[in-house]
Amino acid sequence: MYILGIESSCDETAISVVEDGRKILSNAVETQIERHREFGGVVPEIASRMHTEAICGVYNKALSDAHLNISDISAVAVTFAPGLIGALLVGVNFAKGLCLASGKPLIPVHHLRAHIAANYITYKELEPPFLCLVVSGGNTMLVNVKSYTEFEIIGRTRDDAAGECMDKVARAMSLSYPGGVNLDRLSKNGNPEAFRFPKPKVDNSPLDFSFSGLKTNAVNLLNSAKQKCETLSKEDFGASFINSVSDSLIENTEKAIDITGLDKLVLAGGVSANSVLRKKAEALAKCKGIKLYLPDLSLCGDNAAMVAAQGFYEYMNGALSDMSLNAYPTMDIDKIRY
Ligand code: KG4
Repeated sequence: MYILGIESSCDETAISVVEDGRKILSNAVETQIERHREFGGVVPEIASRMHTEAICGVYNKALSDAHLNISDISAVAVTFAPGLIGALLVGVNFAKGLCLASGKPLIPVHHLRAHIAANYITYKELEPPFLCLVVSGGNTMLVNVKSYTEFEIIGRTRDDAAGECMDKVARAMSLSYPGGVNLDRLSKNGNPEAFRFPKPKVDNSPLDFSFSGLKTNAVNLLNSAKQKCETLSKEDFGASFINSVSDSLIENTEKAIDITGLDKLVLAGGVSANSVLRKKAEALAKCKGIKLYLPDLSLCGDNAAMVAAQGFYEYMNGALSDMSLNAYPTMDIDKIRY
């Protein structure tokens, strides 16, 4: 079964064709990173306009790379939540138009479910149940993935997401957008023990995260060094900061493994590309004697192959929409409505 996936929740216009939820036949992406870099972050209005300009070309490329026509496609899957509302609407309306014209079924896909599904493409043998640490620009959570379409959030951030926190600190260090990626690159040669940051803790919720205190502490340290005309080693500062964020993510993940007893750990989302987090997750899985699944680096960030992969399982579950489908800026992974 060929599913055409559409992703436009942030700054990538992406369309992909995936066979049976596991095999990529095409994966066309047009990124807006260069355009947003001059503003230091994504400008929602510009993102929506650029998706509108790019989407037809990306669609043609996705079908031609897959050597297929729309008549060969079984169903159209589209990210409908969460994300930038104007950006999401471009993908959702394109998908609705396509389904109306072609008579194909329409599958609404939750963006974070899609990030998790990136792992089904990387690991053909991976099946739920498993524990998933979802770490992206806007979300950080621990999810008990009970089946392909059943999710339970068992821990979540009370304030900032890990990606957002890394991006803000990278910006305060004058690194260009996207901050997390550049912080990771710069920090490779730094000393992770050079700076100490406060350990985030959420009272009475051992699996919840908090990153805003860590972020504020880091930004304050940078500002105070600037005021005193002191020079900090960016490599050491970045390495220490990433080390603290990763430690916090891994500590709660360890507790979640103990509490749930799940024997498979999966990472998902843009921050799962972080080299330090990947190493710490490997060490944790080894120590606990469980199997670790890290998404291929090419599938960590936003892409449409993951949307098509999750779309396949939603389709199998009968989760289809009619033409009244709307887009939503926020929505929990376990409380889908459309
Ligand atoms: O999942 P994603 O592509 O978009 C959302 O759905 O939010 O995640 C984007 C986030 C950004 O905060 C970006 O800085 C971060 O992922 N990111 C990284 C790395 N690559 C991307 N953060 C740390 N290290 C990386 N290598």
